[in-house]
Amino acid sequence: DKGNHRHFMAKEIYEQPEVVARTLAHYIDMARGRVCPVDMPVDFARLDRISIAACGTAYLAGMVGKYWFERFARLPVEIDVASEFRYREAPLEKGGLTLVISQSGETADTLASLRYAKQCGQNVLAVVNVPTSTIARESTAVAPTLAGIEVGVASTKAFLCQLTVLLCLAVAAGRARGTLSAEDERGIVDALIGVPGLLAEALKGERQIEVLAREIAKATDVLYLGRGTSYPLAMEGALKLKEISYIHAEGYAAGELKHGPIALIDERMPVIVIAPYDAVFEKTASNMQEVAARGGRIVLLTDERGAAEAGLETLATVKLPEVHPAVAPLIYTVPVQLLAYHTAVFMGKDVDQPRNLAKSVTVE
Ligand code: M6R
Repeated sequence: DKGNHRHFMAKEIYEQPEVVARTLAHYIDMARGRVCPVDMPVDFARLDRISIAACGTAYLAGMVGKYWFERFARLPVEIDVASEFRYREAPLEKGGLTLVISQSGETADTLASLRYAKQCGQNVLAVVNVPTSTIARESTAVAPTLAGIEVGVASTKAFLCQLTVLLCLAVAAGRARGTLSAEDERGIVDALIGVPGLLAEALKGERQIEVLAREIAKATDVLYLGRGTSYPLAMEGALKLKEISYIHAEGYAAGELKHGPIALIDERMPVIVIAPYDAVFEKTASNMQEVAARGGRIVLLTDERGAAEAGLETLATVKLPEVHPAVAPLIYTVPVQLLAYHTAVFMGKDVDQPRNLAKSVTVE
């Protein structure tokens, strides 16, 4: 049932404040303002590193997770797409931890990675949405994402719930390892509690994005740029756009621009820059100047402060609420999803059932 939405994808984008709230209720002790103890197969304090394996959007959630685990828990993270992880025979220590992330819990390569990790004697924690899935059954422990059934082939609400769970796990790891002060934990938890409200606010920007989508629909190539946790988000934006609109799109770390992709910049290729006003904003702003100087048309996703500091002409500036940097990836996901959605709808594409794609990829 699509409710009063035209597509499942729209319905699922709009469900995000609610499903993230549900996931938070599971992982956060609201009264104490702390992350609940997670049912972990191995103590975070005993680990030297963790490995993550996943595919597609779930892999990109894992990449955001890597930044969080390394920052808040000082825990090195190795991340691979599951199709590489399973065959490259990475040396994995007995008793260590592998995290697999999957909406469906049936993705063949992710399942094979899980089995490989278990063969190596690793504990496997599955961040998974379907609790009855093979991946949930075969892993050592499950961290459920509680997004509810996701119908649209383009993953939206499952991604946001994956981010929510990963951030809670990173905070729990930070506490266990003594790398996150009680005050910093409180700051992140308070910010997380505010996320459903901020998502609702971000959704109010839909009309502006719908108009912008008509411009994007004319492009044959689109570049997405971001730094820090906005980098995996840039790749997620590109993935979403290509899978449902069939426009060629690439996500790049903003700092990589001058190592190649800058050669592509001209007035026909929109450049979507994801840049909340954070510790790396100034660096991204200078990359934007380089794009502008070459006639590139910029779509800037930022906040009030970032818009003021950027000081350049853009095709559009989408302003989001000012947020704690830890939760920015959750909020900035919304315009990225809406842009892909409206571009594809405007082009008359079948957004819920894009060509050549299946909701769950059970073959290699
Ligand atoms: O069910 P999974 O999360 O394991 O699926 C992984 C990918 O196939 C999936 O995220 C895919 O990339 C989506 N269609 C992206 O929107």
